[in-house]
Amino acid sequence: MNINLVTSNQGKVEELTSILEPFGHNASQLDISCPEIQASTLEEVVDFGLEWLHNQGTKSPLVIDDAGVFVDELKGFPGVYSRYVYDTISPKGLLKQMEGIENRAASFKCVLGLLLEDGSTHKFVGECNGNIIHEIRGDGGFGYDPIFIPDGSDRTFAELLPEEKNEISHRGRAMKNLLAFVSEKGL
Ligand code: IMP
Repeated sequence: MNINLVTSNQGKVEELTSILEPFGHNASQLDISCPEIQASTLEEVVDFGLEWLHNQGTKSPLVIDDAGVFVDELKGFPGVYSRYVYDTISPKGLLKQMEGIENRAASFKCVLGLLLEDGSTHKFVGECNGNIIHEIRGDGGFGYDPIFIPDGSDRTFAELLPEEKNEISHRGRAMKNLLAFVSEKGL
């Protein structure tokens, strides 16, 4: 399948492409910024984006990706606001907000939205639990990767090889669900 990845985030493009290609799918980036609504869940953001892209007549099949990091002790913040927090105070600012917090448990969540040529829409979810550390570590990945250690590892997402991150990440897991659906449908 030739899939358009609708995102302006290069990190997402690299991860999604490297997961799709070994399964024989071609991925190309469509650098369109969907308007993001104020919503309380990633799913709502994805639903709105898919509908907007469909109404625009954007070439499908296409995939959009909305993700965020949810900190337990901050009641899930920044969550759906992760991008805004990243653009304003950055991961360093989040670490500052978490000074003195002992429970560092957090999870990443990714919701992928798929719009097919027949106009149908589908969502796939992946999550990854772990902990926010106290400093920035590693040069790989993007976004909050340098401050997050997934469960079962002693390295941050930014210290893992791309294929190691994909194997366990929220995005990797959501993509596995998408690929299973695509293969079941024979697409
Ligand atoms: P959005 O999905 O583009 O709204 O991204 C939300 C925020 O989370 C952005 O600042 C991203 O850089 C960040 N983000 C999304 N996915 C990841 C990831 O896999 N690792 C680290 N940060 C991420």
